[in-house]
Amino acid sequence: MARTKTIHRCTECGAEYPRWAGRCDTCGEWNTLVEEIVAPRASTPSARRRGGTTTLGEGGSVAATTRIADVKGSESRRWKSGIDELDFVLGGGIVPGSMVLVGGEPGIGKSTLLLQVAARLQQGGLRTLYVSGEESPLQVKLRADRLAEPSADVALLSETQLETILATGAAMDPQAMFVDSIQTVFTSDLEGAPGNVGQVRECAARLMRFAKDSGTTVFVVGHVTKGGGIAGPKTLEHIVDTVLYFEGEGSLDQRVLRATKNRFGGVDEIGVFRMTEQGLVAVANPSELFLGDRLTTASGSAVTALLEGTRPLLVEIQGLAAKAGFGTPQRVATGYDGRRLALLLAVLDKRAGLPFAQLDVFVNVVGGLRVQEPAGDLAVAAALASSVYDRTLPPDAVFLGEVGLAGEVRPISQVERRIAEAEKMGMRTVYLAERSIPRGPARARLEARDIRAIGVTNIGALFERLFA
Ligand code: TYD
Ligand code: MG
Repeated sequence: MARTKTIHRCTECGAEYPRWAGRCDTCGEWNTLVEEIVAPRASTPSARRRGGTTTLGEGGSVAATTRIADVKGSESRRWKSGIDELDFVLGGGIVPGSMVLVGGEPGIGKSTLLLQVAARLQQGGLRTLYVSGEESPLQVKLRADRLAEPSADVALLSETQLETILATGAAMDPQAMFVDSIQTVFTSDLEGAPGNVGQVRECAARLMRFAKDSGTTVFVVGHVTKGGGIAGPKTLEHIVDTVLYFEGEGSLDQRVLRATKNRFGGVDEIGVFRMTEQGLVAVANPSELFLGDRLTTASGSAVTALLEGTRPLLVEIQGLAAKAGFGTPQRVATGYDGRRLALLLAVLDKRAGLPFAQLDVFVNVVGGLRVQEPAGDLAVAAALASSVYDRTLPPDAVFLGEVGLAGEVRPISQVERRIAEAEKMGMRTVYLAERSIPRGPARARLEARDIRAIGVTNIGALFERLFA
């Protein structure tokens, strides 16, 4: 059989080339050529011809349209995986016929999670097919043996060729199919090696079509590259319905599952798990786990909610101000910009009378995180003031605000999403700029959930409130 015709297209400028090259001759960008299949044009020759005497729509056939009101099916038909945190992040369960990408660094637990989901669904009476291109059936079985879930009836397939996977899927017609991982799958229609952008995109697109045509929900694992993207930045994210990221510190056993895109639900929710000897266990109260090592009885600790890209994240900031020895006082910041700290110290000194000129100052963002947005200022200021006064901050308080040169507390973006994350982590009191306080229905929502939003105009007023 003749090989499908492919071209290499530049992702920057769209220029086409018959074969791959490191650099695009048209726009001069490097490493932007991606292999793609040339769509068979024979069927619609004139519709594609530009200019000339083309009649619009020539070569196409008339398709039936549907009134919105007549569209069958409803959103409510979802499968529960029984793993509550996952169902929650998905927006209330698994949508039949959808495609879900689970991304994360190697070793974080993607295969473990999906095998557990497969086991639960199979137990719940659904047909499941677990395709592993990374591990042999024996390796998968050994993992399954560790898990607390009975996974005996899950069908296994060790395969990397897309055509075989799709044919097996079509023959078996499972309700849920798991592909671990997209980087190992390849189609023989493309020349590129498995894992390259062209292969990943084409395989994902065909799996997506399979999901839509068959009603099978397809879960795919995607390894995250150094830059934090999944195989070719954004390539996969655009194709699939839902993107879940599985994250965690390698050395700690906590894992966070987040939706960063969801056509069937919100993206504000996170699910928290613990990796145990018997697989992943959902954590009912994440705030306990996350801020669990925080010493709320010690001064100098404040919590803020950052936005990582589109993702809110709660972090603890520690500040320590100690009497300086001889010479210039020390300023050491870990995870926080040194110049921003110098500026903030000057503001605290001048506007709130804190005597930093005689103090060594240390700031540490816990967990190896970096605070890059000004929204963390208020928490840094509160942590440092707490240390100077040697008074603790309310354990359930979160600080959201930028601090200006006049000591004023400034509004920040996406306050409601940050508050939602803080609430999920068990926080109840929010200190923020007066202008940031949600109004109207949003305010009523906060009150209904017992969240106190306290507006502060400047740091002096905040410290008076906290330490007076
Ligand atoms: P894995 O699911 O293979 O990660 P990924 O598919 O994201 O690469 O799991 C990785 C780690 O989890 C591995 O180092 C072993 C550990 N693990 C447990 O601690 N408990 C378990 O029950 C299982 C199955 C794995
Ligand atoms: Mg794996």
